[in-house]
Amino acid sequence: TKDQIILGIETSCDETAASIVRNGREIISNVVSSQIESHKRFGGVVPEIASRHHVEQVTIVIEEALKQANMQPSDLDAVAVTEGPGLVGALLIGINAAKAFAFVHQLPLVGVHHIAGHIYANQLVEPMQFPLLALVVSGGHTEIVLMKEHGSFELIGETRDDAAGEAYDKVARVLKLPYPGGPHIDRLAHESEEAIDFPRIWLEEGSYDFSFSGLKSSVINYMHNAEQRGEEIKPQAVAAGFQNSVVEVLTAKTLRAAKQYNVKQVIAAGGVSANKGLRKSLEDTFAKEGIPFTVPPLFLCTDNAAMIAAAGSVMFEKGHTSTMAMNGRPGMTL
Ligand code: KG4
Ligand code: ZN
Repeated sequence: TKDQIILGIETSCDETAASIVRNGREIISNVVSSQIESHKRFGGVVPEIASRHHVEQVTIVIEEALKQANMQPSDLDAVAVTEGPGLVGALLIGINAAKAFAFVHQLPLVGVHHIAGHIYANQLVEPMQFPLLALVVSGGHTEIVLMKEHGSFELIGETRDDAAGEAYDKVARVLKLPYPGGPHIDRLAHESEEAIDFPRIWLEEGSYDFSFSGLKSSVINYMHNAEQRGEEIKPQAVAAGFQNSVVEVLTAKTLRAAKQYNVKQVIAAGGVSANKGLRKSLEDTFAKEGIPFTVPPLFLCTDNAAMIAAAGSVMFEKGHTSTMAMNGRPGMTL
């Protein structure tokens, strides 16, 4: 049988990315143009600046992805693009680039949910086994998702306020660390022997939902009180304490859900799954339980287009193509 070759395009936030993936499993090329430097001085992503970067970069990354794969547009079977959720102006740039490309080269167009993409980054590492439980932790999302088959997503729990990555970034800002703060907190946490004891927010018994804004407030209060009393603040101990709380709750709820739904595989996905503390906690916990656990390599945890091509591959196989009327869907649900 003929190989299926998909071009993926991702522009939902602050990375402009294009990638070519074979049979939904094998990365042929993977190009990411990051805008992080441009947003740093604002302490977060500025939507208008993001859109302007995408406009400049999107065609360049698509050409580069083809060039690195040593392929022509005629080698492709479909174009997959992030349809939502994300910044609407940013999404529209990728969607319009994908439409133009698909139109000129007469290729089918596949709109992909960004979180489905994060989940499918794992298919680039290992084939999925169902039922599967995915812990999705990114800058915009914190969710536990149950998958009984390819392309089917049941939301088991989600955050009621801040996403895990958002909490990381906000706490990092309080510690005067640069944006995005997640990797900096991760690094500081590992430099510390001490950890401040912050609360674990479990919510009602049996709930798989999360809440991180209370934890963020505890960190802010701790810093404020220490400053008032003229006490020395050890950023490493604050980072370690915050990280311990986040990791413990994420791990415990994922484990409980994995047991309740008797899953064959657990995966982690999204930018925060790049976190060393979280990876280790999940790896150790599921190894002990004898439940197969996978997490993508770091470059596939944060935003990229290989994951969009991988998810698009499954949707294309199932016949879920989009029309040329595809619009950006900032609030798209899984
Ligand atoms: O998935 P992603 O690249 O973009 C979204 O879809 O949101 O996730 C970005 C988030 C940011 O909040 C960033 O601080 C966080 O992932 N992040 C981390 C780490 N690396 C990235 N958080 C904790 N530890 C890390 N090592
Ligand atoms: Zn993402």
